Amino acid sequence: MNYLITGGAGFIGSHLAEYYLRRGDRVSIVDDLSTGAWQNVAQLDGDPNFKAYISDAADLALMEREIREADFVFHLASSVGVKLIVSQPVESIRRIVRPTETIVDLCAKYRKPVLLTSTSETYGKSEATPFREDMDVTLGPSCKNRWAYAIAKLLDEFYLLAMRDQTSLPVFIVRLFNVVGPRQTGSYGMVLPRFVSAALKGEPLQVCGTGEQTRCFSSVFDIVEGLARVGSTPEAAGEVVNLGSDEEISIVDLAKRVIALCDSSSTIVYKSYDEVYGPNFDDMRRRVPSLEKARRLIGWDPKRSLDEIIVETRDWLKTSGRD
Ligand SMILES: NC(=O)c1ccc[n+]([C@@H]2O[C@H](COP(=O)([O-])OP(=O)(O)OC[C@H]3O[C@@H](n4cnc5c(N)ncnc54)[C@H](O)[C@@H]3O)[C@@H](O)[C@H]2O)c1
Repeated sequence: MNYLITGGAGFIGSHLAEYYLRRGDRVSIVDDLSTGAWQNVAQLDGDPNFKAYISDAADLALMEREIREADFVFHLASSVGVKLIVSQPVESIRRIVRPTETIVDLCAKYRKPVLLTSTSETYGKSEATPFREDMDVTLGPSCKNRWAYAIAKLLDEFYLLAMRDQTSLPVFIVRLFNVVGPRQTGSYGMVLPRFVSAALKGEPLQVCGTGEQTRCFSSVFDIVEGLARVGSTPEAAGEVVNLGSDEEISIVDLAKRVIALCDSSSTIVYKSYDEVYGPNFDDMRRRVPSLEKARRLIGWDPKRSLDEIIVETRDWLKTSGRD
């Protein structure tokens, strides 16, 4: 098979590229390196089954050529990380919406199945956990720009589903919940690499708010397996599927767990959301996926424990010299 992966030099995309290359498939990636890094895929350079294009995934000529050649398109290219969305809202909205329109239109033209990685942010401030894919959502107002990420991703979802309705294009939508592991950078606000990096340097771990807000962390290796299964399951076409862990942990407990597993002398400091993200910031208290649909459709459950994931992240940060 010939897979096209947009955002393929990113954290998840680079692991997905390796997964298919290991199986003997061909992989092309398109990435503008806005948040990704060439180092994520440098080890693949020279593999005759691997092609990389450093370019905007909204580039019509390139995408037309690559989508025509592809058997399946994974569309991961997107702005990510709340800190980035809040600090660069115009670029962030563009990077989510524009490539999706280009890619989905071309997939419809050449009849190529496409999978979009959406996000748990689309559930917004909904309190009814666990989050089921068909539940109503509660999003914040447009004057709080962190919601731009959720709303732009929801617009992407609507666009794929509309194309499916009007043209019968096979589309797949996966909502990811806090994916972590080797190659994730802390530069755009992602909590686990920030914590592990600080713990390894003996610096304070910075917790936002009370730290009692909870999240569920899943390993990138489990998620890659899940993405591949969704894409190869015909019954999943036209569906929105949650992938993530349903094991909840508060952010302050995560900080303590990281300090212990890194054998670190770091302390925990508390910062207000205003200090970190500026005024008008809104956060969600809990974010727990319902995995019932993933189990039923693709027989998938996350395998790695949080401790294993923290250790993998720690070992990668220690050996790669990256941040
Ligand atoms: N990591 C998570 O916890 C998480 C959670 C929910 C959803 N997601 C989704 O998963 C996908 C991958 O995220 P990630 O965590 O690997 O982040 P990432 O930043 O490492 O990957 C995104 C990649 O897309 C590239 N990119 C952005 N805009 C582009 C454009 N216009 N053209 C070409 N390339 C572009 C970036 O350079 C980067 O390599 C994204 O769609 C993201 O919204 C991730």
